[in-house]
Amino acid sequence: MKIACLAGDGIGPEIMAEARRVLTALDLPGLTIWEGDVGGTGYKRHGHPLPPETLEMAQAADAVLFGAVGDPSCDNLERHLRPEQAILGLRQALGLFANLRPATMFPGLEDLSALRPEVAREIDLLIVRELNGDVYFGEKAIRTLADGRRQGFDFMSYAEDEVRRIAHTAFRAALGRKKRLCSVDKANVLETSQLWREVIVEVAAEYPEVEASHMYVDNAAMQLVRNPGQFDVVVTGNLFGDILSDQASMCVGSIGLLASASLGEQQTEFGVKGLYEPIHGSAPDIAGQGKANPMAMILSLAMMLRHSFGREAEATRVESAVAQALADGVKGADLGGNAGTDAIGAAVLERL
Ligand code: IPM
Ligand code: MG
Repeated sequence: MKIACLAGDGIGPEIMAEARRVLTALDLPGLTIWEGDVGGTGYKRHGHPLPPETLEMAQAADAVLFGAVGDPSCDNLERHLRPEQAILGLRQALGLFANLRPATMFPGLEDLSALRPEVAREIDLLIVRELNGDVYFGEKAIRTLADGRRQGFDFMSYAEDEVRRIAHTAFRAALGRKKRLCSVDKANVLETSQLWREVIVEVAAEYPEVEASHMYVDNAAMQLVRNPGQFDVVVTGNLFGDILSDQASMCVGSIGLLASASLGEQQTEFGVKGLYEPIHGSAPDIAGQGKANPMAMILSLAMMLRHSFGREAEATRVESAVAQALADGVKGADLGGNAGTDAIGAAVLERL
């Protein structure tokens, strides 16, 4: 089991250290761990946010454990040198088109949700976000028009095969859950979404056990705070999925709790190759202070054990340890508590 650990910027190294402690405690046989630089750290040490040696390491690994990238001191660099290009480059180079972002209410945290507790209690959803297309990877530029005005543009597109493969991922996920799937688009305005919807309808016919529905993204944003309990699997494009998953995180209390898996088609000996990262960023404002909540990182490790290594039992053990720590009142500053990064990691380890 070859794992590339890419801690990245800001709080990345701090939360990665806690995930590594949990991994070590599991004492799995046959682990090989590599470490590589990415993001602002990659740029400062090697002149590129995704240095070639890091990319090669990620290509050779069965799974990538990814901290966070983003460094304000790099914000004025040309776009291709900015820290975010590390994660976008990895998603593209490794063909990681399916981003799974589960959002589930941890019992006892209902009062911390941005929603009323009785509304928040019902949340148990999975956002399946397409990760290799959309405006993220279309042609983009700021150009000067003939009359001298500057114009920015980002080309939005989805080819039918791109929609079909993420649809299959989402329908299969729904089969293993409550068998409801909601596809989110903007088909009332965008042609890209019109095709998206047509392909989802085609694929839905192959999954008669799954109840499929369609929702415009503006309505979905509203429904997510009005009645999030109605959602099981939500499948959507790259941009809408980026936005809705941040929104979902505050519905369950904190973005410090949301893990993610990015999967492609490449198989490993025990599962599917993937990249695992918390959905939050590098939080430069609290970096180096030992304040960051490592739970999303630790939960991302659990997703890695499940999806890339077929270690369902260990994945569940890690998730239960996190849930138990939360139930026992171990809370970071993001949840209104005062437990630091180390203390949270130690509390999870103890329960493991
Ligand atoms: C995410 C992040 C990234 C994205 C950024 C860092 C490029 O917001 O993973 O949700 O937009 O996909
Ligand atoms: Mg995001």
